[in-house]
Parts: sequence; structure tokens; C-alpha cells
Amino acid sequence: MRSLIDILDLTTGEIDGLIEKAYDIIANPAKYSEVCRGKKLATLFFEPSTRTRLSFEAAMYELGGNVIGFSEAQSSSAAKGESVADTAKTISCYADIIAMRHPKEGAPYVASLNASIPVINAGDGGHNHPTQTLADLLTIHREKGGFDNLTVGFCGDLKFGRTVHSLINALSRYKGIKVVLISPDELKLPSYVKTDVLERNGIEYSETRSLEEAMPELDILYMTRVQRERFFNEEDYLRLKDSYILDLPKLSDAKADLCIMHPLPRVNEISVAVDNDPRACYFKQVLNGKYMRMALILMLLEEAKK
Ligand code: CP
Repeated sequence: MRSLIDILDLTTGEIDGLIEKAYDIIANPAKYSEVCRGKKLATLFFEPSTRTRLSFEAAMYELGGNVIGFSEAQSSSAAKGESVADTAKTISCYADIIAMRHPKEGAPYVASLNASIPVINAGDGGHNHPTQTLADLLTIHREKGGFDNLTVGFCGDLKFGRTVHSLINALSRYKGIKVVLISPDELKLPSYVKTDVLERNGIEYSETRSLEEAMPELDILYMTRVQRERFFNEEDYLRLKDSYILDLPKLSDAKADLCIMHPLPRVNEISVAVDNDPRACYFKQVLNGKYMRMALILMLLEEAKK
């Protein structure tokens, strides 16, 4: 049974196909409005979410399907000690496809080993968030026309930011990508991502603590929230949470066609004044996430028939 746990579960050809499908969904929504009639998506969210859960649900409704699920572990039998494996086996009796978010790295993978229906990882701990990456890729494609020869700056919490890890993995397959890692020392990109992804794929990268220094060369600036829920103590979080705040003066040296991204939710990392700048793309990302999740649901349900 085909699931999506890691963005690298998809070939570049399959990602291209999903992007092409998303463009078709955007252009011809009526063509897709009944294609999932009679199908059910189960959204199993053991961690809070606004965008991912509701965009999956909106995606399934716009495909003509239905949705069941829960939005917190406490309202499921996980609160009584049920395992992820048993939950996956149970939901396979009720639904056709699962989207699961879980605080523990690897939980959606365990679910996929036990489910008889496709499982989509909707974010597992500080590990991966492949459908956010699909949203990010469609945004980059719509704003830049492709992926090659881009200089991409990742700024903020590069240690715990699962969306950063997934997007770096995805971009490492394209030509001429340069990565600039902007973070405080405590929140640097984990060394396994540097060695296993950037270095193994020969991606040129640099590290800096200064957003202002990096700004002029960037085509994409990917801002991130400091992930309070992954910190072991509040003191460290409070010290680091406002390390980077993007405001209009900081954009004075940026390219005119810079694409500013953020997986959201934001706390203080981007001033609301930036929202009206034409370079702000983060709410476009939100909408693109729904289109890519529609394309992914269609692909996995089609594969499940085989
Ligand atoms: N980007 C993202 O995963 O947002 P939510 O936590 O609101 O789903």
C-alpha cells in the first residue's frame, strides 16, 4: 500500500505530476468536484493544527468526498493507551485514506506499516512534514517558474523545524540550488541533514547568524517559528524566540522579486507590515497547500486501487 511518509518517497517525476495536477485543479475545479464521491479521509491529529488539518478536510470536500477524524489525542482512545498500530488498523475499517499528525517522530510510519489504506504524514515531531513541502514546492513553482538555480535562505529554528528538513530534502534534487542557513548557534540545522542531504548531494551551502548579511543574494527567504513545543526548558525558548524578526527595513537590500515564505503559524518572526509587500507569499502557500493535498489524495487513492 503506497503511503507518503517522507518527501523522498516521491520521485521528482511524481512531484512534477502532482504540480501539474494542482495547476489543472486550479484551472478546472468543477472537473474534480465529484471524483472522490463515496470516499472518506480520516484526519488523525494527535497535535494541534490549523492549516494542515483544515486544508486536508477542505481538499477532500472539494473532491466530493467526506471526512472523519479527531483533532486532539485526548478525544481519541490514545488517551486510554491505544497504540498507533491499533489505531491505524481500526481506522482502516472506516476510511479510505489517513492523514496523521503526531508529536513522535516515526508514528505515521508505524501507522503505514499497520494500515491497509494509504497513510499521509501530516507532520511527525521535529522530523518531517512532506505535505507542507508540496505546498512550498507549488508556491516556488508558481512564483519562480521552476526550481533550478535558486538561492534559498532558511531562517530561524533550523534545528526543530520539520518543514525546513523536508524542503531541503526536496530541493536537493534540483540543479544549481544554493542554500543559506541563517540561525543562532543553538538552532542550527542538524548535522545529519548537512551531511546526509546537502553534502551528499553536492549542494553549495553557507551558515550565518546575520539575516541582513544574507538578504541581498536570496531568491527565496523561508522564515520559521521557533518551535516552543520542542524545547526542554522555557528559559531557552524565551532567550531565542525573537532571534529574527523580518520587517520592512530589513527588506531594503532584498531582491525586488524575492519570495518570502513561512509555513505558518507565525508568532513574531514576520512583522504584519510585511504582509502587504508583494514579495510576501506565505498566505499563497496556505492556499497552494490545499491544491497539492487534493492532488496527493487523488494520486494515493488511484494507487490504492492497483
Ligand atoms: N504549516 C502547518 O503545519 O500549520 P499547522 O500547524 O497550522 O497545520
